Amino acid sequence: MGVRLAVVGATGAVGELMRQVLEERRFPVESIRFLASSKSANRSIHFAGKEYTVQEVTPEAFQGVQIVLSSTPASISRHWSLIAAQMGAIVIDNSSAWRMDPEVPLVVPEVNAKDLQSIPKGIIANPNCSTIQMVVALKPLYQISRIKRVIVATYQASSGKGAKGVNELDAQIRALGQNGPIPVATAHAGTLAGNVLTMDWKLGDDGYTEEEIKMIKETQKIMGDEQIRVSPTCARVAVRSGHSEAINVEFETPVSVEQAKNALRQAPGVVLVEENNPTGLQPLHVAGQDHTFVGRIRQDPSCAHALNLWVVADNLRKGAATNAVQIAQELLKIKKWA
Ligand SMILES: NC(=O)c1ccc[n+]([C@@H]2O[C@H](COP(=O)([O-])OP(=O)(O)OC[C@H]3O[C@@H](n4cnc5c(N)ncnc54)[C@H](OP(=O)(O)O)[C@@H]3O)[C@@H](O)[C@H]2O)c1
Repeated sequence: MGVRLAVVGATGAVGELMRQVLEERRFPVESIRFLASSKSANRSIHFAGKEYTVQEVTPEAFQGVQIVLSSTPASISRHWSLIAAQMGAIVIDNSSAWRMDPEVPLVVPEVNAKDLQSIPKGIIANPNCSTIQMVVALKPLYQISRIKRVIVATYQASSGKGAKGVNELDAQIRALGQNGPIPVATAHAGTLAGNVLTMDWKLGDDGYTEEEIKMIKETQKIMGDEQIRVSPTCARVAVRSGHSEAINVEFETPVSVEQAKNALRQAPGVVLVEENNPTGLQPLHVAGQDHTFVGRIRQDPSCAHALNLWVVADNLRKGAATNAVQIAQELLKIKKWA
């Protein structure tokens, strides 16, 4: 016995990993369909030792499906996730399409699994990758003292732009190594190899990028506290996978480094990396892992009630596929399908 699943966007960077995470977590599957655009229809993919054919997404493809794991661009999710939900499935959507809809829970299981008690539209949103790892680290600290303000600078991997981002970075690195001409960037906003891009997301009228606005609004929704002030600067760096974040957290009352470490040591989904780790905490070390890694916890010398942290996670895993599968696992407890 298991659940009847569909994976939409099965051929993308997140969708590919979704299959792997479902297998690793031994998610109980009665049946599974892999859906994508007409471009990928009839492609063969493997799951749990069997070969499957990718189908083009259609309304009929959702017939009888209980959970849909969707990882398509937001414009596609706006259309198909709604149809899948209307066909009776619960959709866990990785895109930004539904995240700020008040009738759609935005869930990181370690932080707000309780929000899954009400799913009015049949859609659950998976938050933005850079927000997920930040709130996993913030939640245990918030339980010590209310967080007033967060200042965050991100160092985000190329894979945040999907398979096309990493392919582009790889091609640029190869060209640099051969002293050849660097191929023109189409996935990223400019040459990423040997570079840092802060305009790799759509820019708003207020001078903030979409990614930065997501970090502000999604953090408030997931933490259930609209008073938390978040001040973000997001940057894309020449890293294939793994987002890093320098986070400054200001609390209502003083929190010591030891208190923070104790809370993080016991926190679900967190690995505390102690200072005696000689290489420090690097995105290369966390690739392929599901946890959020927190290190370099320091008292802020400029503010009595603030701490500095360095937080790293695999953006395709905890930032996308793993968090979505964890939500599905939480649903199993509520729905008792399997
Ligand atoms: N990458 C990350 O770190 C990350 C983290 C969190 C959330 N997300 C979000 O997750 C979503 C997917 O991201 P990704 O990085 O996996 O992108 P991706 O590698 O570009 O994959 C996109 C997927 O969507 C499918 N798709 C595109 N147009 C479609 C259509 N008209 N009908 C059906 N399927 C269609 C593609 O199928 P074809 O192969 O057939 O074109 C592919 O399977 C995005 O909304 C992204 O913002 C990504």
